[in-house]
Amino acid sequence: MSADTALDEALQERLVAGEKLVLALPKGRVMGESLEALRQAGLRLAARVEGRALRHDAGDALVIEMRNADVPTYVEMGVADAGIVGKDVLLESGSRLAEPVDLGFSACRLSLIRPRGASGTIERVATKYPRVTASYLARRGSSADVVKLTGNVELACLTGLADAVVDVVQTGGTLRDNDLEEVDVIAHSSARFVVNRASLKLRSERLRPLIDALRRLPGAR
Ligand code: PRP
Repeated sequence: MSADTALDEALQERLVAGEKLVLALPKGRVMGESLEALRQAGLRLAARVEGRALRHDAGDALVIEMRNADVPTYVEMGVADAGIVGKDVLLESGSRLAEPVDLGFSACRLSLIRPRGASGTIERVATKYPRVTASYLARRGSSADVVKLTGNVELACLTGLADAVVDVVQTGGTLRDNDLEEVDVIAHSSARFVVNRASLKLRSERLRPLIDALRRLPGAR
């Protein structure tokens, strides 16, 4: 039997018997901290997920691994019972997921950024967060255009593609190295434990104790 077949059977088993939780976790930096938080909260999980498989039977849960922007979709559609994702991504997704725990890690700001000393009217803003940006500009009465990019967004300011960007500021290193400044903080972000609302009812005996344990972790609330 291949590993994939075994996983498909495990998924079937979960659907029929309501056993293992399915957790949507973002690949990359946040994966390690997420697994650690879940382990500290009492889930028996493998120390790390190895290789390039995108689904892992990680012990007490099935972990499915994806880009962070896709986590809200997988949880909202019920493919995953719960997930971990940044508040910045949740704001952009417009999802209405239950968000019972702020895990505290991956803290950053979503900010309006301009070249240092720039003062003219903002006419074009580049960002990976077009919804958040459009709503921020509307609140400020600005009619600036929003340009969607997918990465290295600050480059738009440096090349004249846009006169401002909305992006994540974590250490501030990218701003310093590119002579940019944070002119307004739009939102504060950190990793959130999000839960599918149907799962919260149907699997409450598994999810409620996990939520309570995650809330008790240092730095969480
Ligand atoms: C993020 C973000 C900023 C940078 C901010 O980019 O988009 O560019 O980190 O972090 P800092 O304040 O610590 O410098 P990331 O490295 O995730 O890559 P991306 O721009 O390709 O999304």
